[in-house]
Amino acid sequence: MAASLPSAAVLGARAFAALEGLNRFTDEPGKLTRLYLSPAHRQAAEWTKGAMEVAGLTAFIDAAGSVQGRREGPVPGEPSVMIGSHIDTVKDGGRFDGSLGVVAGILVAQALRDAGMSLPFALEIVAFGDEENVRFPTHLSTSAALAGGYDPAWLETRDADGVRLSDALREFGGDPGGIAALARRRGSVKAYLELHIEQGPVLEVENEAVGIVTAINAQRRARIRVTGEAGHAGTVPMSLRKDALTASAEMALAVETIAAAHEQAVGTVGVFQVSPGAANVVPGRVEFTVDFRSPSNAVLGNMEAAIRRGFGEIASRRGVGIDIDVYTNAPAVPMDSDLQEALAAGVARAGGNAAARHLPSGAAHDAMAMAALCPAAMLFVRNEKGISHSPLEAMTEADAGIAIRALLEAVVELARRAG
Ligand code: GLV
Ligand code: MN
Ligand code: MN
Repeated sequence: MAASLPSAAVLGARAFAALEGLNRFTDEPGKLTRLYLSPAHRQAAEWTKGAMEVAGLTAFIDAAGSVQGRREGPVPGEPSVMIGSHIDTVKDGGRFDGSLGVVAGILVAQALRDAGMSLPFALEIVAFGDEENVRFPTHLSTSAALAGGYDPAWLETRDADGVRLSDALREFGGDPGGIAALARRRGSVKAYLELHIEQGPVLEVENEAVGIVTAINAQRRARIRVTGEAGHAGTVPMSLRKDALTASAEMALAVETIAAAHEQAVGTVGVFQVSPGAANVVPGRVEFTVDFRSPSNAVLGNMEAAIRRGFGEIASRRGVGIDIDVYTNAPAVPMDSDLQEALAAGVARAGGNAAARHLPSGAAHDAMAMAALCPAAMLFVRNEKGISHSPLEAMTEADAGIAIRALLEAVVELARRAG
């Protein structure tokens, strides 16, 4: 039976061709920018729905904007094995982050259909739409919707242009009132698998095409508002200034120092907005974000305490006000060990290393939200120099092929175990 499955080389070529199709859709010509609920997201969702239908799945775009595709097992409505990832991107992002995993799932469904292979469970492929969480202050909202963890307060949040999430969702063609009903019943999904580029350098350094994720690191995100006193850049003496920007700059440096002092931790100030933003005005207000992560929940707690202490000290020394709003607090999520073994069997059968490399994930993934609903596991693919969230993101067609073949073999392995 397995002889009729496509080779890794064929799967890699199909994946790169499909990515060309999907990545035509961007909100910024010349770059790949596809934020949640944008026009390009809608176009990409429709393209994905079409590709799922071509692969023999029954597909629809759900109330939260995810594309869901399904082929039934022997008994319609019985539990599924789900393969998912996301089609939203960061601003000026890469071609593989998320999209590769969605295309991989569709190619797995297509290969099984073409080989005439029946499975003892339903197969679902899902293209989530809000993994990057760069437009609204959400956290994996579209996968959380399926996992039953959607926070209704997210619907009231606004993007940088003041657009409310619920309004953007209606404009997209979604339905805020339909989100609660997306939550899957516990037991209705047997397993969630996600293939994703590593977004780090480990596999390349170790000369491995693929690796199996052990756990996804804990992560917190905060929005900081520093309030100083705006004034004339030519007349306010240096000793009398309450400059919100220089205070915030010192805080950003403190984040760097604190993260470096905690083993395996990272901390990033990725958004920095200065008001009023004129060359001849002392900045009166700054808003910035802090994203910090660690494999350990306890370490992350210590980092938050250090950040609060450090920011408080800087603010009082400089006479500025500070408001810290931690809007994401996601604990570390271990991946399911049985599913890690199924992926390892898939890797071995796909011609990879018999003892697959295991590694943690520093990036967040939809698997993090899905793990609250069902056993979840991830397969990483090597990418060039570990560069991601950048147009320089690159990987080989050969590696993509090995990974997709391994994912396909892992689904076959789960079928064997179930049968
Ligand atoms: C998503 O890519 C994240 O980890 O921020
Ligand atoms: Mn991603
Ligand atoms: Mn990403």
